[in-house]
Amino acid sequence: MKPLPVLPVLFAMFCAVLPAPTLAADADPRQFVEMAPEARATLRAEMLDNQLALHQIIGALAEGKYAAAADIAEKELGIGAMGKHRQLPANARPGMFMTDEMHALGRASHVAASDFAKLARTGDPATALTALQGITGACVACHRSYRTQ
Ligand code: HEC
Repeated sequence: MKPLPVLPVLFAMFCAVLPAPTLAADADPRQFVEMAPEARATLRAEMLDNQLALHQIIGALAEGKYAAAADIAEKELGIGAMGKHRQLPANARPGMFMTDEMHALGRASHVAASDFAKLARTGDPATALTALQGITGACVACHRSYRTQ
């Protein structure tokens, strides 16, 4: 039996201790992170790309194209995709407004994507799916911890 990957397990534990957010903003237990409108716009555009990448990764896995899934993950979400807003003015860079903890979750999501890329190349469905949960776990952990409005 393979050892459980650390990141998905950590994320699962992390999420288990957080209360589920309710819809009313005043009762929302997530930490509010105030960002300049420009930074929020950058973040939201990046998020839509994240969602698309995830969708494409799942599609590639469903077709048994493990190398393609790995390539998308590495290019769009992996460690190499970190810091792509560096050239933007400070008020348009989401990272400028993040707490250390939020930043750490962001970095962990890039690491999870690179880990997935490595493990997906094994071509083993269970290994790939477990590693994919490392990525989705990062999405969930941040979304359940922080809000920007
Ligand atoms: C480090 C924190 C963090 C991580 C990790 C993260 N997100 Fe987000 N995401 C946010 C925040 C904050 C918002 C709200 C942005 C706003 O509206 O100001 C958001 C919003 C979104 C939205 C809505 C975009 C819109 O406005 O239409 C989507 C879709 C999304 N995220 C997808 C993802 C996916 C998929 C992942 C994982 C691959 C992910 N996110 C990982 C912080 C994160």
